[in-house]
This record gives sequence, structure tokens and C-alpha cells, in this order.
Amino acid sequence: MTKMISGFSKLTKEEKINWLVENYFDNNSNAINTIKQYWHDDKKLQQLHDDFIENTVSNFYLPMGVAPNFLINGKEYAVPMVTEESSVVAAASLVAKFWSTKGGFKTTVLGTTKIGQVHFMFAGDTATLERYFKEKKIALVAATASITKNMEKRGGGILDIKLVDKTAELENYYQLHITFETKDSMGANFINSCLEAIAGEFRNDAIEIVMSILSNYVPECLVRAEVSCKIEELGVPNPQKFVEKFYQAVKIAEIEPYRAVTHNKGIMNGVDAVVIATGNDFRAVEAGVHAYAARSGKYTSLSHCAIDDGVFKFWLDLPLALGTVGGITALHPLAKLSLEMLQQPSAKELMQIIATAGLAQNFAALRALTTSGIQHGHMKMHLQNILNQLGASLREKEKITRFFEGKTVSHAAVVSKFEEINKR
Ligand code: MEV
Repeated sequence: MTKMISGFSKLTKEEKINWLVENYFDNNSNAINTIKQYWHDDKKLQQLHDDFIENTVSNFYLPMGVAPNFLINGKEYAVPMVTEESSVVAAASLVAKFWSTKGGFKTTVLGTTKIGQVHFMFAGDTATLERYFKEKKIALVAATASITKNMEKRGGGILDIKLVDKTAELENYYQLHITFETKDSMGANFINSCLEAIAGEFRNDAIEIVMSILSNYVPECLVRAEVSCKIEELGVPNPQKFVEKFYQAVKIAEIEPYRAVTHNKGIMNGVDAVVIATGNDFRAVEAGVHAYAARSGKYTSLSHCAIDDGVFKFWLDLPLALGTVGGITALHPLAKLSLEMLQQPSAKELMQIIATAGLAQNFAALRALTTSGIQHGHMKMHLQNILNQLGASLREKEKITRFFEGKTVSHAAVVSKFEEINKR
């Protein structure tokens, strides 16, 4: 029998779940219990979550942790992080503390410009199109007046509209390339609404609009985070050797794409965790950041390192389109709480905090990789996951954790110890 269904979205939540478990689960009551276990008792709060997306059946929890002791441009922060990966929050906390005694992190916003495009086809003469665009330019901006009114009051709006000829790459293809300032909002809805109004005004018999959409590639919405100190002030064993290996690790990521992807993934461990905690769009950030890493035509490291006159310097530039108003930032209670924890930052300040989280994470990974390796610390943290998987009791967890102190943790070793305890 087919499992295709029409009108699924019209079913009540209970009906959706019943249909789902009847069709896709062998053990109906187990599935129903798991789904309902994560419903919130507070009906209003549950309704809020139900309404974020469509066909909601439950809530998917991720842990929210805090990395304290971040010093950024002289200001102290406790940074909220949402991630499923063990070691990420611990690493951020350790590195935050480490750099807090060496002047902390310094950050600069290098730009806040966002981009949207109207993609269209025009088969006529380019000079005619250019004339038409020139005549229309003021009307194109005017067509967005009702949308841009509030944004302009906040100091944002449309910065410029350019006609771009792309016919050398695709026959008859042109764009309106539009730049925006969206202040404290991420601006996706604002930009897309403006683009559709502009496209509507620009359209004529000879112009076929293909689509109007913002770009998640935002190389001019850019922030830099850096740390630096004298090599001997690093306070690590054999600091000269440490910085040399660290420098080599960064250089390898600069020239070797296989390594660069993993290197940058480590940066995104920190970035995404704060992006999610603050209710921002991590897919947009991921897409934009990796495109930026490949901007030269070859995928490369997002972070860089220099050793000059006995001074170690480590930094990264990240394109980050973020919002501290709009979207779910004020709607999701924990996103709201995260922003409160960060002392209600502007979008610019949040860019700086998030770039710092990325740099801290990268520093932690490279420090571990070039010294003890990451598995020692990682498996220590992973021990709790393995014990949870095995269904260990609190007493068993304590006993096994104590047993593995100073020893190498492996999945097999933990299972074997667990079985040994339970055999007795
Ligand atoms: C693991 O999530 C991240 C690392 O692989 C990053 C890196 O290799 O730099 C440790």
C-alpha cells in the first residue's frame, strides 16, 4: 500500500503523529512516547514552537552551554553556545580565559553591506537596456518607498543599484545588483521585498525577470577578529616551538584544501554555536563563509598567522550577515535570553562576538592538534556520551569516569569496563 498522502498539513498534530507512526514505525507506542516526551508542558510555549515551522510534531533539543571569560575589545562576555558536539564549549572557555590575560580579542567590523539581485533576460541591444536602466533608476528606488521607510529611519536602506551585463557567461543574462544596509536586522525579508518591488517596476515587454533574491555571499559584510602577544608571553611549554608548529599548521590550511575544509569546520564549530544560540540563520552564514573561503578560486583557510619581531599574531576575517532584531531573535525565548546574556548587542557587535568565538575555536583546535592531538581531550568529553548510550547509572558513570582518569578513552574500552562492572 502506498504511503503517499495528500492534505497532511491539514491534519491536527495528533492526527499527523498517528498517521506517521502507523505508516513508518514498527513500535507505535515507543515512537509516540518519544515524540510526546519532548512536548512542552506550557501549552503557549509549545504553540510558539509549533508555529515556527510547518507540520511540527515535536521539539528537537540541543544543549545550550556558556563559555565565560571572553574579553573582546576590553569588554567582558559570557557567550551562549548551542551545539551537540562535546569539547566545543570547553575549548572556547579555555581559550577565552587563556587570551583574557594577554589583552583579550581585538575585533573590527570592516563592512556591513548586504547584496540582492534581480536576475533577468534581455535579448535586445545592451545600449538600449543601459538607457532604459538609467531612466528608470530613480523610479526603481521609489518603488520600494513603503518598504524602506522604517529601515531608512534606522539609518539603513538601499545603497545603490547597478546594471550588470553577464551575457559573456550566459546568453541574454543581465542583473540588477543591489546593495543594502540593514542595520540591526539580518534583512532577508527586507531585501527580498525590495527586490520584488524593484523587479515589478523594471519589468517590460522585452525584459523577462527570472528571479529576485538576496545573496548569502556577503564579502562586504565582514568582520576581523585577532589575538596577539609576545611569543614568550604565551605561557606554554617551549613557546618558540609552539608558535612555529602553529604557524605551519595555518600555512598548511592556506595551501591545502583538504586540510582547509577541516580547519574551517573547526572555526564554524564556534561560529554556528553562537549563531544558533542567538536565533540567527546558520545555513546562510555557512554558505557565505565557505564561498568567502573559496573567493580566490581555490578553497583556503579563513584564519591566518604571522610571527614578526617575536610577536605572535593570529586572526581571521569572516563575512557574517546577522540580526539582533527581527526573525526569531525576540520570539524564541532562548534566543532572546542569549542576546540578553550578551548585553543586547547591535548586529555589528554580534558579528564581533561570533568571529571571536570562531577564532577561539580555531586556536583551541590548532593548539591541541600541534601538541597533544585532539583525541585525548575529545574522547574524555565523549566518555559521557558513550556512558549515556550504554544507559549507565549515575554511580556507574562516576566509577567509570574515575577509572579512565589519566587513561586513554576508546569506545571499546568503555564498553568493556561497563560490561565488567555489570558482570559482578
Ligand atoms: C572537530 O569538530 C574540529 C577539528 O577537526 C578542527 C580542526 O581539525 O582544526 C578539530
